[in-house]
Amino acid sequence: MHPDLQKILLTENQIRSRVTEVAKLVDKALSGKRPVAVGILKGSIIFYADFIRCLTVPLELDFMAVSSYGAGSVSSGKLKIRKDLDGDVRGRDIVVIEDIIDSGFTLACLKKLLTERGAASVTIVTLLDKHERRTEDIKPDYNCFEIPDEFVVGYGLDYNEEYRSLPYIGILKRSVYEK
Ligand code: IMP
Ligand code: MG
Repeated sequence: MHPDLQKILLTENQIRSRVTEVAKLVDKALSGKRPVAVGILKGSIIFYADFIRCLTVPLELDFMAVSSYGAGSVSSGKLKIRKDLDGDVRGRDIVVIEDIIDSGFTLACLKKLLTERGAASVTIVTLLDKHERRTEDIKPDYNCFEIPDEFVVGYGLDYNEEYRSLPYIGILKRSVYEK
């Protein structure tokens, strides 16, 4: 285990089997369609890569990078798009693939945006759900793991751009971010 971690929350095996299980459900629900898999950079990349390889429907891949200044702050409430999609979503079935839903602000904004742009449907798939912290009225259509209100890293998730390449998900020691 990485020395900055307090404990491993989800092992590689746990992640692999649950991601496969959820992907099969999504695959079934999308049968007959040609969806666009939208990965939210950068946190979702490892989940995205594993997830889409379990799908059998023909897929297009696209990516967005966003930062939120919303949740909790009164002054803004805006989602900043740092990299937009390459393709047009009008009339398309979109599967948004995100690492973690926390307040729900990011995904609530994205869902609204994609709907306004004319997407035929928006399906939200998350790897992790910190449901205790939700402030927005949004629920992922599919979620792999409910997790407690702890700061987690690994399998794509970072703290200050570190730890993304760990193959498992762990709880970061408080001393790492409280110093
Ligand atoms: P939301 O808009 O509050 O739902 O925030 C979602 C975003 O916050 C995610 O895409 C992550 O980038 C980040 N985030 C929230 N909790 C964690 C965590 O425990 N580890 C790493 N990133 C997190
Ligand atoms: Mg993110």
